[in-house]
Amino acid sequence: MDVRIVSSEEEGGKIALEMFKDQLAKNPASVFGLATGSSPEGFYREAVASDIDFTKATSINLDEYVGLDENNDQSYRYFMKDRLFDKKPFKKNYLPNGMADDLEAEVKNYDEIIRENPIDLQILGIGRNGHIGFNEPGTPTDITTHVVDLTPSTIEANARFFANEDEVPRQAISMGLGSIQKSKKIILFAYGEEKAKAIQGCIEGPVTTHVPASILQNLSDVTVIADNAATSLL
Ligand code: GLP
Repeated sequence: MDVRIVSSEEEGGKIALEMFKDQLAKNPASVFGLATGSSPEGFYREAVASDIDFTKATSINLDEYVGLDENNDQSYRYFMKDRLFDKKPFKKNYLPNGMADDLEAEVKNYDEIIRENPIDLQILGIGRNGHIGFNEPGTPTDITTHVVDLTPSTIEANARFFANEDEVPRQAISMGLGSIQKSKKIILFAYGEEKAKAIQGCIEGPVTTHVPASILQNLSDVTVIADNAATSLL
């Protein structure tokens, strides 16, 4: 893994922006795997401020809460429109539909979308417990899209975005670890000391389902963009 230690999210965002531009120079119709959460926000700010052109590109997001529609400002669809899509249009944006009546049918539908649009470059954040997307500790490494019961640790961590913990959805639809591992390139962002243990497990720990991000050690093209605090245990 290529570990790039940066002094700010702005610096990290600029590094990622160059990688996105390189990918688009190779193929304007690239497929980008996108993530929500605070970690990629520096990158989205840099992208919006730049001349990057996604109009021929496709995006596929990692995950979405079950039960929040696109008008709910905590839904990941709302987040993506607000941070990126309204300002930088793509040819096509895909996110799981957390409002689907039949979640199992939606899971199959999303797998089909991923199969038809192989991901060239995937960005990831990392949960405090080492989750990626919403693939919580213990998730099988070959799993495809699935409905997830969120762990108490993730509900607690994400409660900061909601009025109170009771309002945090208990389920999400997540791209699976099996699909994430098929991305040709991955960028993982991590900032702050609350990510230090997860980053240690991801980069130096054994490859184990207890730390889902540790599977990235098996891949050939992974860049970790992190600050001093997140890398303090390495
Ligand atoms: C959430 C998301 C993940 C994200 C993680 C970290 O649970 N499903 O995709 O990487 O939390 O979030 P943050 O970047 O806000 O710390």
